[in-house]
Amino acid sequence: MIPQAKIDEIIQAANIEQVIGDYVRLKRRGANLTGLCPFHSEKSPSFSVSPAKGIFKCFGCGKAGNVVNFVMEHDSLGYIPALKHLAEKFNVEWPQQEFVNVDEERKQRDEKESLQILNNWANDYFQDILWQNETGQAVGLSYFENRGFRHDTIKKFNLGFSLDSWSAFFDKAIANQFSEELLFSSGLVKHKEDGKKFDAYRGRVIFPIHNLNGKVIAFAGRYLKKEPNSPKYVNSPETILYHKSNELYGLYFAKNEIRKQDSVYLVEGYTDVISMHQSGVENVVASSGTSLTEGQIRLIKRFTENVTVLFDGDAAGIKASIRGIDMLLEQGLNVRVLTFPDGDDPDSYSQKVGSDAFKEYLETKRQDFIVFKVNLLLNDAGNDPIKKATVTRDIVESISKIPDSIKRSVFVNECARLMSIDEQVLLVELNKLRKQFLTDKDREQQQQQRNTESNDPFEGFEPTPEQGYADDLQDTLNNSSIFDEQERDLIRLIINFANKTVNETETAASYLLRKLIEKEIEIDHPIVTLILDETYHVIERGEIVDDRFFTNHQNPLITALAADMLAREYILSPNWEKRAAVKMDSFFKDTKADIDSAILHLQIKYINKLIVKNQKELKPELSEEDFELHQRVHMDLTKKRNELTKKIGTVIVK
Ligand code: GTP
Ligand code: MN
Repeated sequence: MIPQAKIDEIIQAANIEQVIGDYVRLKRRGANLTGLCPFHSEKSPSFSVSPAKGIFKCFGCGKAGNVVNFVMEHDSLGYIPALKHLAEKFNVEWPQQEFVNVDEERKQRDEKESLQILNNWANDYFQDILWQNETGQAVGLSYFENRGFRHDTIKKFNLGFSLDSWSAFFDKAIANQFSEELLFSSGLVKHKEDGKKFDAYRGRVIFPIHNLNGKVIAFAGRYLKKEPNSPKYVNSPETILYHKSNELYGLYFAKNEIRKQDSVYLVEGYTDVISMHQSGVENVVASSGTSLTEGQIRLIKRFTENVTVLFDGDAAGIKASIRGIDMLLEQGLNVRVLTFPDGDDPDSYSQKVGSDAFKEYLETKRQDFIVFKVNLLLNDAGNDPIKKATVTRDIVESISKIPDSIKRSVFVNECARLMSIDEQVLLVELNKLRKQFLTDKDREQQQQQRNTESNDPFEGFEPTPEQGYADDLQDTLNNSSIFDEQERDLIRLIINFANKTVNETETAASYLLRKLIEKEIEIDHPIVTLILDETYHVIERGEIVDDRFFTNHQNPLITALAADMLAREYILSPNWEKRAAVKMDSFFKDTKADIDSAILHLQIKYINKLIVKNQKELKPELSEEDFELHQRVHMDLTKKRNELTKKIGTVIVK
């Protein structure tokens, strides 16, 4: 990313009058300059430049932006090249750091390639030992056989064996020209404290870990019998190929079936994945014993939104894992859970009951997570009212993480019934938590943003796809179907009046943001959300949101949009006939009333969206209970909509 200070410096130095003046004959008219638009052909001028605001706008073709947008558009340049062009023209020093990384990049690429070659070789080597070597067969292969793994299964997962020798693997690797340094960095060979080298996986059966493309990026090695001072599994360290928190064991073998079934089973161990495949259940991945990370959840979401978590172990273990599941809800996944009889895990249970019975168990025994949690906790609480109150809070906390408001209301309804509590009680609690949760999340994101900013100011120096190039950008702006009226209005209000005070304590920006949160309005347009988020962060930092904040922004789409909005308020169309298009009066209007009206319209629009969504889900094949629930939601929503509509006196047909 280019530091904001650098962008400000370039825009400050670049004289918009001079830059545009090189291509357009500009005449002064009041505070502004006008001329014939360079982007479309015209006979009378509808192109305006405001040197004071640093923006241009054509009232004929609609193009608008700051000086960088002008260069992008005029010279068909990307965002960074346009900035660079201006820096050169106006003698602003261009940061050199972007070139420093070329060698580093090549080095990293070479390292990656060598490590991949080593992993491929080691993968072959361990399998060779398992199938060809006498000890390998007697110890490794028979171990897998005793666990009930078939030969085709063992081959499919590339399972292997590492001899119980200090350096059999190391010696062979050196003989094959692999460097010591590479062997150490892969984690396949380790140092003792006295400097003595040894094979890290010696005497273990090997489970290679594949990435999404089937490349072996790491290894896990399980000991064969319990050894007092040795961990059950040895795993590869984090390497340039393997980032544990972004991988899921078995995903490569599961991904097609996950797509096909539109659902995934999540288990704990390598052996669970393998046994389930052998039983014909292939849409399964393992978290490898730790709780899921956000990266892993994102990975799952690329394939499906429906997750069934298979718990092994006892009630205590299950309770411990339950916390981690809220994270799945938070990411918008539909979560179901399944437990096994005490002492069994998916591996042992599938081997015990056989493929058909196992599949049937999966199909019939899975339960919705929240319902499962309610039952589990209620069971514990018994009739103790204090414990029951804790349970309520706990359940509502889970529900509050669900991003989809329809689903939330379905669960509130369901849980109220299960717990014999008034729905209102849950709702009040839920709204409190939602507010808390939304602010926490925001703070977290802000913190993350700061962290990345401080690490490497030049990271991601290229424009993001979202920033795009000039053509797309102006198209996006002028395509009115992309923003609807209400969203455009929000942006207009923020960009023009962010700092105008609307009451004793608030500016227009803070008032508008507070209303959005209070009314639980969700906006899904990415640019609108971006502008709202940025505004929020500036206010949080106690800074002022002036219009330069938007016209000098990192994202050229925002600068163009800001210029457009400012021009509509501040620049008169040079084309007198078109003057009617310019709303000068809005500046003097009551900003607070404007915001209230925009919010009301958005609320109605959002409820309409919920109604449509709910209706889509209302299908005859729903269970009677679900059907009723959806009908009730529908009634609630339409009632709410009618109340709001009355407020603005608009009649909504349909
Ligand atoms: P079996 O007990 O042989 O069925 O193996 P398992 O793979 O099911 O192991 P277990 O249920 O004990 O643990 C589940 C998962 O946790 C494993 O598959 C590993 O990914 C991880 N795990 C367990 N023990 C260790 C360990 O000592 N070190 C590391 N790094 N991971 C472990
Ligand atoms: Mn296990």
